[in-house]
Amino acid sequence: MRILVVFYSRTGVTKSVASLAASVLKELGGESVSVETEEIVDLKDRSGILGYLGAGKDAALKSEAQIKPLKAKVEDFDLVVVGTPVWAFTAAPAIRTFCERYGRNARALGFLCTMGGSGDRGAFEAMESACGKKPLSSLPLVVKPGRAESVEAFRPKVRRFAEHLLKAVAPASPGEGR
Ligand SMILES: Cc1cc2nc3c(=O)[nH]c(=O)nc-3n(C[C@H](O)[C@H](O)[C@H](O)COP(=O)(O)O)c2cc1C
Repeated sequence: MRILVVFYSRTGVTKSVASLAASVLKELGGESVSVETEEIVDLKDRSGILGYLGAGKDAALKSEAQIKPLKAKVEDFDLVVVGTPVWAFTAAPAIRTFCERYGRNARALGFLCTMGGSGDRGAFEAMESACGKKPLSSLPLVVKPGRAESVEAFRPKVRRFAEHLLKAVAPASPGEGR
Protein backbone atom coordinates (compact mmCIF):
# COMPACT_ATOMS: atom_id res chain seq x y z
CA MET A 1 0.00 0.00 0.00
CA ARG A 2 1.30 3.47 -0.88
CA ILE A 3 0.52 6.41 1.38
CA LEU A 4 1.25 10.08 0.69
CA VAL A 5 1.33 12.63 3.52
CA VAL A 6 1.12 16.22 2.28
CA PHE A 7 1.03 19.29 4.45
CA TYR A 8 1.44 23.05 4.57
CA SER A 9 3.04 24.61 7.61
CA ARG A 10 3.94 28.24 8.31
CA THR A 11 5.67 27.81 11.67
CA GLY A 12 6.47 24.09 11.80
CA VAL A 13 3.68 22.71 14.01
CA THR A 14 1.69 21.00 11.24
CA LYS A 15 4.96 19.84 9.71
CA SER A 16 5.87 18.06 12.97
CA VAL A 17 2.44 16.43 13.25
CA ALA A 18 2.54 15.35 9.60
CA SER A 19 5.95 13.81 10.07
CA LEU A 20 4.81 12.04 13.25
CA ALA A 21 1.75 10.72 11.38
CA ALA A 22 3.98 9.49 8.53
CA SER A 23 6.28 7.62 10.90
CA VAL A 24 3.38 6.08 12.87
CA LEU A 25 1.67 4.96 9.63
CA LYS A 26 4.92 3.32 8.54
CA GLU A 27 5.47 1.70 11.95
CA LEU A 28 1.92 0.27 12.04
CA GLY A 29 1.80 -0.66 8.38
CA GLY A 30 5.10 -2.51 8.35
CA GLU A 31 6.63 -4.01 5.22
CA SER A 32 3.49 -3.79 3.12
CA VAL A 33 3.22 -0.01 3.47
CA SER A 34 5.37 2.73 1.96
CA VAL A 35 4.92 6.30 3.13
CA GLU A 36 6.05 9.41 1.27
CA THR A 37 5.86 12.96 2.58
CA GLU A 38 5.67 16.20 0.62
CA GLU A 39 5.48 19.77 1.85
CA ILE A 40 3.19 22.09 -0.08
CA VAL A 41 4.97 25.35 -0.83
CA ASP A 42 2.99 28.59 -0.84
CA LEU A 43 4.88 30.98 -3.10
CA LYS A 44 3.59 34.01 -1.17
CA ASP A 45 5.85 35.27 1.62
CA ARG A 46 3.90 34.56 4.81
CA SER A 47 6.64 35.58 7.24
CA GLY A 48 6.50 38.32 9.85
CA ILE A 49 3.56 40.44 10.89
CA LEU A 50 2.66 41.46 7.32
CA GLY A 51 2.76 37.82 6.28
CA TYR A 52 0.52 36.96 9.22
CA LEU A 53 -2.02 39.65 8.34
CA GLY A 54 -2.03 38.67 4.67
CA ALA A 55 -2.45 35.03 5.65
CA GLY A 56 -5.53 35.79 7.75
CA LYS A 57 -7.03 37.92 4.99
CA ASP A 58 -6.38 35.36 2.23
CA ALA A 59 -7.82 32.56 4.37
CA ALA A 60 -10.93 34.54 5.31
CA LEU A 61 -11.51 35.54 1.66
CA LYS A 62 -10.92 31.92 0.58
CA SER A 63 -8.36 33.20 -1.92
CA GLU A 64 -6.55 30.84 -4.24
CA ALA A 65 -2.87 30.41 -3.34
CA GLN A 66 0.07 30.21 -5.71
CA ILE A 67 1.56 26.84 -4.83
CA LYS A 68 4.48 24.93 -6.32
CA PRO A 69 3.29 22.06 -8.50
CA LEU A 70 3.26 18.83 -6.52
CA LYS A 71 6.06 16.36 -7.29
CA ALA A 72 4.07 13.31 -6.20
CA LYS A 73 1.23 11.95 -8.33
CA VAL A 74 -1.76 11.81 -6.01
CA GLU A 75 -3.53 9.18 -8.12
CA ASP A 76 -0.66 6.72 -7.57
CA PHE A 77 -1.42 6.44 -3.85
CA ASP A 78 -3.98 4.32 -1.99
CA LEU A 79 -4.32 6.98 0.69
CA VAL A 80 -3.48 10.69 0.85
CA VAL A 81 -3.24 12.36 4.28
CA VAL A 82 -3.59 16.15 4.09
CA GLY A 83 -2.42 18.43 6.93
CA THR A 84 -3.20 22.11 7.43
CA PRO A 85 -2.95 24.76 10.12
CA VAL A 86 -6.30 26.43 10.87
CA TRP A 87 -6.34 30.01 9.62
CA ALA A 88 -9.35 32.24 10.27
CA PHE A 89 -11.46 29.17 11.16
CA THR A 90 -10.74 27.48 7.85
CA ALA A 91 -7.94 25.70 5.98
CA ALA A 92 -4.78 27.58 4.92
CA PRO A 93 -5.09 28.84 1.31
CA ALA A 94 -2.26 26.55 0.14
CA ILE A 95 -4.23 23.51 1.32
CA ARG A 96 -7.53 24.74 -0.08
CA THR A 97 -5.74 25.16 -3.43
CA PHE A 98 -4.05 21.75 -3.13
CA CYS A 99 -7.46 20.16 -2.49
CA GLU A 100 -9.05 21.95 -5.43
CA ARG A 101 -6.25 20.98 -7.83
CA TYR A 102 -5.41 17.48 -6.69
CA GLY A 103 -7.98 16.31 -4.13
CA ARG A 104 -10.38 14.78 -6.62
CA ASN A 105 -7.64 12.46 -7.85
CA ALA A 106 -7.10 10.96 -4.40
CA ARG A 107 -8.52 7.46 -3.97
CA ALA A 108 -8.92 7.87 -0.20
CA LEU A 109 -8.26 10.75 2.17
CA GLY A 110 -7.33 11.48 5.77
CA PHE A 111 -7.30 15.03 7.17
CA LEU A 112 -5.34 16.52 10.03
CA CYS A 113 -5.16 20.06 11.32
CA THR A 114 -3.40 21.99 14.04
CA MET A 115 -4.74 25.13 15.68
CA GLY A 116 -4.33 27.43 18.66
CA GLY A 117 -7.91 26.95 19.85
CA SER A 118 -10.71 26.25 17.40
CA GLY A 119 -11.77 26.19 13.76
CA ASP A 120 -11.15 22.55 12.84
CA ARG A 121 -14.73 22.09 11.67
CA GLY A 122 -14.50 24.92 9.15
CA ALA A 123 -11.10 23.71 7.96
CA PHE A 124 -12.25 20.11 7.45
CA GLU A 125 -15.47 21.20 5.73
CA ALA A 126 -13.49 23.40 3.32
CA MET A 127 -11.11 20.53 2.54
CA GLU A 128 -13.91 18.03 2.05
CA SER A 129 -15.79 20.34 -0.26
CA ALA A 130 -12.66 21.22 -2.30
CA CYS A 131 -11.66 17.54 -2.59
CA GLY A 132 -15.21 16.46 -3.40
CA LYS A 133 -14.76 13.54 -1.05
CA LYS A 134 -15.21 12.70 2.64
CA PRO A 135 -12.08 11.73 4.54
CA LEU A 136 -11.88 8.27 6.11
CA SER A 137 -10.80 9.93 9.33
CA SER A 138 -9.88 13.41 10.64
CA LEU A 139 -7.52 14.46 13.39
CA PRO A 140 -7.85 17.94 14.94
CA LEU A 141 -5.11 18.97 17.39
CA VAL A 142 -4.87 22.03 19.60
CA VAL A 143 -1.17 22.89 19.96
CA LYS A 144 0.40 25.86 21.72
CA PRO A 145 1.52 28.28 18.97
CA GLY A 146 5.09 27.73 17.85
CA ARG A 147 5.54 24.60 20.00
CA ALA A 148 6.39 22.21 17.19
CA GLU A 149 8.61 20.20 19.55
CA SER A 150 5.63 19.45 21.82
CA VAL A 151 3.71 17.35 19.29
CA GLU A 152 5.25 14.08 20.52
CA ALA A 153 2.67 14.30 23.34
CA PHE A 154 -0.01 13.66 20.71
CA ARG A 155 1.45 10.30 19.65
CA PRO A 156 -1.47 8.26 21.15
CA LYS A 157 -4.03 10.36 19.23
CA VAL A 158 -1.97 10.17 16.05
CA ARG A 159 -1.73 6.40 16.52
CA ARG A 160 -5.52 6.03 16.80
CA PHE A 161 -5.93 8.17 13.67
CA ALA A 162 -3.37 6.05 11.78
CA GLU A 163 -4.97 2.78 12.94
CA HIS A 164 -8.36 3.98 11.78
CA LEU A 165 -7.00 5.00 8.37
CA LEU A 166 -5.11 1.75 7.79
CA LYS A 167 -8.12 -0.31 8.78
CA ALA A 168 -10.40 1.67 6.48
CA VAL A 169 -8.07 1.45 3.47
CA ALA A 170 -7.25 -2.24 3.90
CA PRO A 171 -10.04 -3.83 5.92
CA ALA A 172 -9.14 -7.18 7.48
CA SER A 173 -10.09 -10.05 5.22
CA PRO A 174 -12.96 -12.30 6.39
CA GLY A 175 -11.82 -14.81 9.00
CA GLU A 176 -8.75 -12.78 9.92
CA GLY A 177 -8.27 -12.25 13.65
CA ARG A 178 -10.72 -14.99 14.66
C1 LIG B 1 -3.23 33.90 9.85
C2 LIG B 1 -3.47 32.93 10.97
C3 LIG B 1 -4.78 32.68 11.38
C4 LIG B 1 -5.02 31.77 12.41
N1 LIG B 1 -6.33 31.49 12.74
C5 LIG B 1 -6.59 30.57 13.71
C6 LIG B 1 -7.94 30.20 14.02
O1 LIG B 1 -8.90 30.65 13.42
N2 LIG B 1 -8.14 29.30 15.04
C7 LIG B 1 -7.09 28.77 15.73
O2 LIG B 1 -7.34 27.95 16.62
N3 LIG B 1 -5.80 29.04 15.43
C8 LIG B 1 -5.51 29.94 14.42
N4 LIG B 1 -4.22 30.21 14.10
C9 LIG B 1 -3.13 29.51 14.80
C10 LIG B 1 -2.60 28.32 13.98
O3 LIG B 1 -3.65 27.52 13.47
C11 LIG B 1 -1.73 27.40 14.84
O4 LIG B 1 -0.74 28.12 15.52
C12 LIG B 1 -1.14 26.27 14.01
O5 LIG B 1 -0.77 25.19 14.85
C13 LIG B 1 0.08 26.74 13.22
O6 LIG B 1 0.55 25.68 12.44
P1 LIG B 1 1.92 25.77 11.61
O7 LIG B 1 3.03 25.94 12.61
O8 LIG B 1 2.00 24.48 10.91
O9 LIG B 1 1.85 26.94 10.68
C14 LIG B 1 -3.94 31.11 13.06
C15 LIG B 1 -2.63 31.36 12.64
C16 LIG B 1 -2.40 32.24 11.59
C17 LIG B 1 -0.99 32.48 11.11
